[in-house]
Amino acid sequence: MKKTALITGGAQGIGRAIALAFVQQGYAVSILDPDRDAGLEVIRLARSENGQAIFVCADVADDEAVARWIRLTADDFGGIGALVNNAGIGIGGSPLTLAPADFDRVIAVNLRGTFICSQQAARFMTATGGGSIVNIASTRALMSEPGSEAYAASKGGIVALTHALAVSLGPHGIRVNAVSPGWIETAEWQRSDRAHAPQHNERDRLQHPVGRVGTPEDIAAACVYLAGPAAGFVTGQNLVVDGGMTIKMIYE
Ligand SMILES: NC(=O)c1ccc[n+]([C@@H]2O[C@H](COP(=O)([O-])OP(=O)(O)OC[C@H]3O[C@@H](n4cnc5c(N)ncnc54)[C@H](O)[C@@H]3O)[C@@H](O)[C@H]2O)c1
Repeated sequence: MKKTALITGGAQGIGRAIALAFVQQGYAVSILDPDRDAGLEVIRLARSENGQAIFVCADVADDEAVARWIRLTADDFGGIGALVNNAGIGIGGSPLTLAPADFDRVIAVNLRGTFICSQQAARFMTATGGGSIVNIASTRALMSEPGSEAYAASKGGIVALTHALAVSLGPHGIRVNAVSPGWIETAEWQRSDRAHAPQHNERDRLQHPVGRVGTPEDIAAACVYLAGPAAGFVTGQNLVVDGGMTIKMIYE
């Protein structure tokens, strides 16, 4: 498998940590993100660690742009080994009033974007001996706060898409898994003019059996594991990385 990794939404937040974790593991990385300044920052950070990095400024819901990004990366890096479908947005609101266009947009970015990127990348992976796809879902695939219908539906769809793709692409040498983050604090991983120190109180920490809120590095480590040879017998899984938040019963 080529030691190359593509990350959607890799310019900020969890995606930025994923991109830099792959660089630290010796992967050439390619990120697609609509935030030009943030993307260029990641390229500079990757190159300062002697990493090879490509940034394409685009929307994951733009099929043509996705196809160009994946083709360009495969040509430049000589193939594609790993894809992390990380780009995700949420548009909240009561289901009584949520605009259908807002529902469609969340599905287009989170779920349809995950499928299109996987489809395009898989075509190149099959040509170079296989690969690994990691989809960033969410614990919200299985539990909700009010007013999160579009986001929850998109993430539930990603969990289902993950096992479907794993079965279809397994014979082509491609493993497909999901990571479901819980509460991950991304404040320090935003573009430099927006980044700030997070603030959590004791109650926030104690919601988690591990005693803290999650970090983007927690999710990046799971992605590196699932993408690499140590997870060679793991496919179709949804790895929950939430510090135990969703296995803790709360009676108040
Ligand atoms: N932070 C959490 O607590 C948490 C929990 C569960 C799941 N997640 C998931 O993790 C992923 C990353 O979330 P985050 O918290 O780091 O978000 P973030 O908002 O901090 O960063 C998202 C990145 O994706 C980019 N992006 C936005 N729209 C895009 C599009 N249309 N095409 C390509 N890139 C786009 C943004 O520019 C940004 O760089 C998402 O899929 C999110 O649903 C996050």
